[in-house]
Amino acid sequence: MSDDLRAALHQQWAGVAPAWSDGADEIDEHNAGTAAAMLALAKIRPGERVLELACGPGGVGLEAAPLADPGEVVLSDVAVEMAEIAAARAAARGLTNVTTRVLDLEAIDEPDAAYDVVLCREGLMLVVDPARAAREIARVLRPGGRASIAVWGARERNPWLGTLFDAVGEQLSAPIPPPGVPGPFSLPSLDVLVGLLRGAGLENVRGREVDAPFRPRSLDAWWERVPNIAGPVAKMLAGMPADAVGAIRERAIAELAAYAGPHGVEIPGLTLVAGGRR
Ligand SMILES: C[S@@+](CC[C@H](N)C(=O)[O-])C[C@H]1O[C@@H](n2cnc3c(N)ncnc32)[C@H](O)[C@@H]1O
Repeated sequence: MSDDLRAALHQQWAGVAPAWSDGADEIDEHNAGTAAAMLALAKIRPGERVLELACGPGGVGLEAAPLADPGEVVLSDVAVEMAEIAAARAAARGLTNVTTRVLDLEAIDEPDAAYDVVLCREGLMLVVDPARAAREIARVLRPGGRASIAVWGARERNPWLGTLFDAVGEQLSAPIPPPGVPGPFSLPSLDVLVGLLRGAGLENVRGREVDAPFRPRSLDAWWERVPNIAGPVAKMLAGMPADAVGAIRERAIAELAAYAGPHGVEIPGLTLVAGGRR
């Protein structure tokens, strides 16, 4: 049952890869503060070997590459389509110390102690068993190696995304994601994230909140971007009749109107960033 769920979740992400390719620069802009906080915790040194897990278009690993040079940075994702996007972006930047791999963060197909640093931005909360994933992260770190991990905070602190999930859930009269299925708000507090990393055996674990407001050009631009990159809902929306999708859009945009003002749109978001040492 869990393996069927895993396969379905992995497929959801493969399905939204084209939208992540289109939106990669805007996504990195939205998450720039998170990347900076993660890299500040990771303290990457020249020559170190770095693994980014659940990399999507690879935003954090691409920032890490010049810091690790001449060390290698491996950008990895469970979806080959995402790893290909990250590879293309590394090539476009002329980075020569970056490679890509398909890796599942719940079962990392790498030897023990293979990396100096592991990075994972907005991935750990999406897996069926995050404690297992945290143990895998610790396992592939060499003794003294560092992990730096970010997850979205609680739904209430992330209306830029939560509003969409709520609007779909209201339309279907069911919570999205359903109970027992991981989603963007599955690890909603620093205590939970820090506890997972400590439970995996990491030491000196500490964390902080980082504001990550989303500033789309308009609420229409929000609708054009967010439902298309949201792994858990994109396929649902694609399978719904047009009038149902229209009702969801209307409900979500009415809710978000509070964040649109004369100087543009700014919808609050919050990430939790934590790191530790093996
Ligand atoms: C919300 S996106 C974040 C992408 C990227 N880290 C960023 O911050 O821009 C989540 C990513 O996690 C990947 N993912 C989901 N489950 C995974 C798993 N079990 N192992 C590795 N990657 C996974 C998805 O394919 C997707 O690229």
